[in-house]
Amino acid sequence: MLNEGLSKQKIIKILEEKLSQDFSYKSGSILGSMCTEPLDFGKEIYIKYLHKNLGDPGLFQGCAELEIELILEIGDLFNGSNITGTFTTGGSEANIIAMRVAKKIRSDIRNPEIVVPASAHVSFDKAEDLLGFKLRKAKLKENFELDLDYFESLINKNTCGVVGIAGTTSLGLIDPIEKIGEIIEGKDIFFHVDAAFGGFVLPFLKKLNNKIPSWDFSVKEVDSITADPHKMGLGLIPTGGFLLRDSKVLQKTGFEIPYLAGGNFKHFHIVGTRPGGTIIAFWAIMKYLGQNGFIKIIKECLENTDYLAKRISEINGIKLAAKPIMNIIGITTENGESICEIDEELRKRSWMLGKFTNFNLIRIVVMPHVKKSHLSKFTQDLEDIVKRLKIS
Ligand SMILES: Cc1ncc(COP(=O)(O)O)c(C=O)c1O
Repeated sequence: MLNEGLSKQKIIKILEEKLSQDFSYKSGSILGSMCTEPLDFGKEIYIKYLHKNLGDPGLFQGCAELEIELILEIGDLFNGSNITGTFTTGGSEANIIAMRVAKKIRSDIRNPEIVVPASAHVSFDKAEDLLGFKLRKAKLKENFELDLDYFESLINKNTCGVVGIAGTTSLGLIDPIEKIGEIIEGKDIFFHVDAAFGGFVLPFLKKLNNKIPSWDFSVKEVDSITADPHKMGLGLIPTGGFLLRDSKVLQKTGFEIPYLAGGNFKHFHIVGTRPGGTIIAFWAIMKYLGQNGFIKIIKECLENTDYLAKRISEINGIKLAAKPIMNIIGITTENGESICEIDEELRKRSWMLGKFTNFNLIRIVVMPHVKKSHLSKFTQDLEDIVKRLKIS
């Protein structure tokens, strides 16, 4: 550490130099991320309130009330009533919290197990490692949909929880949430839905008259949902969401921190100190955009997704891994060649996609920062690469 501090100008210059190597959303080269440029108004609000600490909610009661209000509003959007929950650092923390709750409320099971689809996000592997339950992964069918019979066959007397995904990480597919509900009906099994990505897409897709299967609290067996503002909610990083149907669960499973300056409140979080500013910013974003604002954003993302899907289907040698439901597209090779070389060549041309070697696909998330002009340039490069690599 320096003895004498530097001038602000000098520091800003160093930072500009160092950070110039980062990719920017504006350039369009970030094609494989579920995050995007937060809404400008959200940034303004965040800067104003970034000092708020919801790790000590008794000191920031106004902020804590906004959190409750916002959870209720999102719960309503997800067809629940009086939904509780909290905001987290992201989908991973929300999923880990859900898995902890699932395990905790079945403390009678000595060797607890949780069943997830093979397409589940890595946060469930983290949860297994951290919480010490057995994760049972149900295989997918050839078309990447969940093999429901296999899923059911993994459920046994040790099962404390099951997970369905509304917007898979790799392809944005929706698991048969209602059918999973039927399988566990009447069994004392916690049902968590991971809609980290889909949560702020599906309600608006439905409003745009797309046929969307039930995935939320309208399915009576669903106990909790992950839905992340910092993905399609255009919120600030970090803002994840954990929504819970039964408020009594917090009393049964929450942690207590007796020493807090603001008094003792039960909480679910893995972290202690946590941002209030990001939550206030998302409260403001929801109020500012309203349903119609979100619908407009999703509509543009979908139009761009359709354009991209069409362009990909025109390129010989590659194909869509699955028909897109939301603004996520997976590309694979037509005849089973490895997708890795295509990915490497795209990276050389600064196109940053997600790569899923287990499914031999590369993923594009058509986020709001991805414009048609970017996709047009991207598909020209993609076509050129596929030809050069002689993928047929
Ligand atoms: C379905 C799903 N769940 C959870 C997560 C984890 O979210 P985060 O990166 O915010 O922890 C992701 C991230 O891509 C995801 O796609």
